[in-house]
Amino acid sequence: MQTPTDTRRLIVTSALPYANGDIHLGHLVEYIQTDFWVRFQKMRGHRCVYVCADDTHGTPVMIRARQEGIAPEELVARSHREHQRDFDGFEIAFDNYYTTHSPENRALCESIFASLQTAGSISSRRLPRLYCKHDAMFLPDRFVKGRCPKCQAEAQYGDACDRCGATYAAEDLVEARCAVCGRPPVQRESEHLFFELEPSRDYLRAWLPAHTARDVANKLQEWFGEPLRGWDISRDAPYFGFEIPGHPGKYFYVWVDAPIGYMASLQNWCARQGEDFDAWWNGQGVELYHFIGKDIVRFHCLFWPAMLHSAGVRGPDQVFVHGFLTVNGEKMSKSKGTFISARTYLDLLPPLYLRFYYACKLNGTTDDIDLNLDDFAGRVNSDLIGKITNLASRGAQMLHKNLGGRAGAMDAAGRQLFDAARGRAEVIAEHFERRDFCQVMVEVREQAEAANRYFDSQAPWALVKSDPEAARQVLTSILNVFRVLAVYLKPILPSYAAQVEKLFGEEPYQWSDAQRPFENRPLAPYQYLATRVDPKLVEELVARSVTRPAAPAAAAAPAPAAVKPQITIEAFNQLDLRVARIVAAEVVEGADKLLKLQLDLGEARPRQVFAGIRKSYAPERLVGRTVVMVANLAPRTMRFGISEGMVLAAGNPDGGLFLVAPDDGALPGATVK
Ligand code: 2FM
Ligand code: ZN
Repeated sequence: MQTPTDTRRLIVTSALPYANGDIHLGHLVEYIQTDFWVRFQKMRGHRCVYVCADDTHGTPVMIRARQEGIAPEELVARSHREHQRDFDGFEIAFDNYYTTHSPENRALCESIFASLQTAGSISSRRLPRLYCKHDAMFLPDRFVKGRCPKCQAEAQYGDACDRCGATYAAEDLVEARCAVCGRPPVQRESEHLFFELEPSRDYLRAWLPAHTARDVANKLQEWFGEPLRGWDISRDAPYFGFEIPGHPGKYFYVWVDAPIGYMASLQNWCARQGEDFDAWWNGQGVELYHFIGKDIVRFHCLFWPAMLHSAGVRGPDQVFVHGFLTVNGEKMSKSKGTFISARTYLDLLPPLYLRFYYACKLNGTTDDIDLNLDDFAGRVNSDLIGKITNLASRGAQMLHKNLGGRAGAMDAAGRQLFDAARGRAEVIAEHFERRDFCQVMVEVREQAEAANRYFDSQAPWALVKSDPEAARQVLTSILNVFRVLAVYLKPILPSYAAQVEKLFGEEPYQWSDAQRPFENRPLAPYQYLATRVDPKLVEELVARSVTRPAAPAAAAAPAPAAVKPQITIEAFNQLDLRVARIVAAEVVEGADKLLKLQLDLGEARPRQVFAGIRKSYAPERLVGRTVVMVANLAPRTMRFGISEGMVLAAGNPDGGLFLVAPDDGALPGATVK
């Protein structure tokens, strides 16, 4: 049992998701396991604060906002809402989900940077970088595409080749092109600020083995075979981020302010909770843990600890590194429908199944985990439903049906089972502590199997007829074992455990509650705790996740959108629909959905209309076609110019667009009724 003096204080983080993308099942491997761990720590009575945030800065966010014709702040605000909604849906219980685009983060970045300057860790050098004159910006590696200099594979990014694995500088790509506009970039020099790592060499070498798993630390030793190159921490305007004090036009590279965002999120939480930030971040004995994927080890085990050390700020106690998610044994794939977004999943299935399945797979190492969709359904159905939940559903329903819904005392054999189950509390706690969640599940399954064997051997459904009180004892024992297992499962299946608390009429379970027997008390009426996975819904999940290339006529189309509310004929008559001929069509630079059309409506001059049909039509296919347009739509000022109307297109549920056209003979300007 924990005593108050054992109470620990822990700060726990998961990596900050980028603000320019949706949360998917790959991301959730991390958030779900961090959430298991945090909930476990809290159940043990520790003070544990789980902070995270959106990672909002950098070129991809800036470009994405530009393409959507919105300000980056708007994109960031939208992503924040969506991410928060998805995390809530999966029951990820952050204490604070913040943003790196925050005043706290700016102030912390500035203060850490000032400390690094004082420590003499910042230097500056002029460097040539690829620059796109058309987009007026320096291009990060992932915004340059060209042929691999080694194997000549087409369309490779400026850092590494997907086909042969070669790594290179963006300048080395053959026929490099700006990934935004497709034009060849030029080399341009600019001043860059560097954080020097070589002075931290000895510190890092000693730090690594003590703060990461052995396999991770061993692998990272390869960094020390050569001098540690300075880390380029500045980016030139235009850049969505924080400007570097004393360096106008230079911005902190997103990977500088992202991890500092952990601190900023904690600081924001402290302010909201009336806690002392310094007493948390720098507090004696406060533990700090980062959960991250193995792709971002370099940032968390090299740059981050070195930066904190040089700035005189405390660093993490441990960096917990996990592997990637594969689905059906392969990398997630959009065309195969295995790149599944959090939202698509939640539209079809409860979070419980995925949390349960991930727990069965996670073992606290950097091994990848596989979500095999058949195994997923099978495991949930056989273990969570067939073995665990069945104990409660059969036990509680029988007790209500035949014995007034009241638990009695356990019989001797049943008590042995209960003792065995509760006797595993510390072993299971140790598995949780080591993030070896699959071992937690092995333990729980074993106890559930033993209870099921006991249930079947006692046959309480028959016993109840000859000796109802003996049957009550058996059912009481079964329910007690189940209750212990629900306590163990609570960090993994929190809302399931909450229903179990209701069934037994108890306060929220703490870890120590596994030790208490439940005897001679009434049980609430049984409500279904979980149902079997419907394999059809899993098929549907894959079907909905397939991203079809472009939009040929839809084959098996998803359900059409619901019909909008009725309008009157008067309302309809307010629309002035006209036939128009497309006289010119061109792409709009910086807007990947739009085409700019000039439409002859029989008026003195053509109308300019921006239409979101670029994915479905090449501009050269359009000139000369007649279409239908809304001629009396108020002009709208867009970032690219004024749009003076709208062309009508049919939108298939899968996103394909098809222009609406009159039959031959209709002339420009003709009314459409
Ligand atoms: O790799 C990523 O998705 C980053 N957005 C993670 C940032 S974690 C931390 F450093 F902020
Ligand atoms: Zn460009």
